[in-house]
Amino acid sequence: MIWDDLREFIRFLEEKKDLVRIKAEVDPVLEVTEITDRISKKGGPALLFEKVKGSQMPVAINLFGSYQRMSWALGVDDFNSINQRFTELLRGDFDLNLRQKVEALYNLYKLSASKPKEVRKAPCQEIVMERDFSLFDYPVLKCWPGDGGRFITLPLVITKDPESGKQNIGMYRMQIFDKKTTGMHWHTHHDGAVNFRKTAKLGRRMELAVALGGDPVTIYAATAPLPYGIEELFFAGFLRGKPVEVVRAKTVDLLVPARAEIILEGYVDTGEARKEGPFGDHTGYYSVAADYPVFHVTCITMRKDPIYPATIVGRPPMEDCYMGKATERMFLPFIKMQFPEIVDMNLPIEGVFHNCALISIKKSFPMHARKIINAIWGLGQMMFTKFILIFDEEVNVQNTSEAAWKAFNNVDPARDIVISEGPLDVLDHSSPRPIYGAKMGIDATKKWPEEGYQREWPDEIHMSEEMRRLVDKRWKEYGFE
Ligand SMILES: Cc1cc2nc3c(=O)[nH]c(=O)nc-3n(C[C@H](O)[C@H](O)[C@H](O)COP(=O)(O)O)c2cc1C
Repeated sequence: MIWDDLREFIRFLEEKKDLVRIKAEVDPVLEVTEITDRISKKGGPALLFEKVKGSQMPVAINLFGSYQRMSWALGVDDFNSINQRFTELLRGDFDLNLRQKVEALYNLYKLSASKPKEVRKAPCQEIVMERDFSLFDYPVLKCWPGDGGRFITLPLVITKDPESGKQNIGMYRMQIFDKKTTGMHWHTHHDGAVNFRKTAKLGRRMELAVALGGDPVTIYAATAPLPYGIEELFFAGFLRGKPVEVVRAKTVDLLVPARAEIILEGYVDTGEARKEGPFGDHTGYYSVAADYPVFHVTCITMRKDPIYPATIVGRPPMEDCYMGKATERMFLPFIKMQFPEIVDMNLPIEGVFHNCALISIKKSFPMHARKIINAIWGLGQMMFTKFILIFDEEVNVQNTSEAAWKAFNNVDPARDIVISEGPLDVLDHSSPRPIYGAKMGIDATKKWPEEGYQREWPDEIHMSEEMRRLVDKRWKEYGFE
């Protein structure tokens, strides 16, 4: 099942009894966070706050906040199935049986369905406001006590590459400065910032639109680490197997999701910056205030009865962890296509995706682990990974206890650790200076004589099969259940 907008998805979650409506009035300042955090930490449902102080609009939150809801949002029962679909698509195996041929044709059809479909009339433009509007009329959350203000937390920021005309959508939080301006917190490595620098070089101000809501796949796509130049709207259309409907924005030259709830249109001026933050971030720490561009909102279009979508981030697990896990599963086949020796990868949620990767490989030559460590540091947004641990293929990296046991026992710190330097995620607070610093690669594989290991590597302890079967058979006889 594929959802065309947020309200369809909300209705579905309600039918599945995985969304709770809160009728009591709540404050968008801290109270929504405290409630959502408690529900989130218990693995609870999505929430729809119907009465939010100071605004006419309901707030939808935690819509993606479980493995199940994240899968449903992508139109599948289990997002591992998307991993399988990509694996099959990329396998390049042309010796296909009939079922596989039909699947390959279906995948090709989906590729052709990926181009967004432009429509003339759109729900997101039922109301158009070019003058009398205030961002304070929206139920924008102040998430944590130390936050610098209220932040739009689930925005789809739409920019354009001035050279190719291609559009990018990224999710970058936006602090409300006043009625008509916000911060634009795109990290310097992200595509919104790249487009901004390109536009600035041409001496132009950059037109920009921000969609709130839309279909859940497009919302997810804004967070996906696509290579620069691959458009999120096409990727979303491919995942959906159905084009995303778009409409031309009213005052800027951009296409926006037609079935979004709210669209903010405006511009960012080159050379203008303002302190943004602090903000309680997904690392579980506040990101400190820093200078970021200013978004001037010149027009708001919206539905007659918009639902305001939000999320909160903080100490994991939170809603964004499930989005990150979907990305981990979905992008693994692409990584494996370049490095077929990779068996599996786990980005543990405590590492908040950019701090830690556990990777198992089919080791086939000396120092093979180091090849993969260096490769990962050169791979898209994986370049930020602060700790990479490489294991032999039989290690289940999804089991962090097993991975820790292997690493603590197999690693000789003098021999198996590589320290390098390079770009770090903007949110890293440990390095002496922002956005770059040290990274560590750890080779936790069994060491070979060719790698200089001259002792005998010990065998792992396992009971004999014969004895296991015997004890299985006699288990009740011993008096155990
Ligand atoms: C809830 C959430 C909030 C995010 N906030 C920001 C942000 O404020 N700034 C930023 O640069 N990236 C943020 N990200 C990460 C980017 O959306 C993500 O890296 C995305 O791939 C960037 O897209 P781009 O490569 O097209 O720029 C956030 C992700 C999520 C899930």
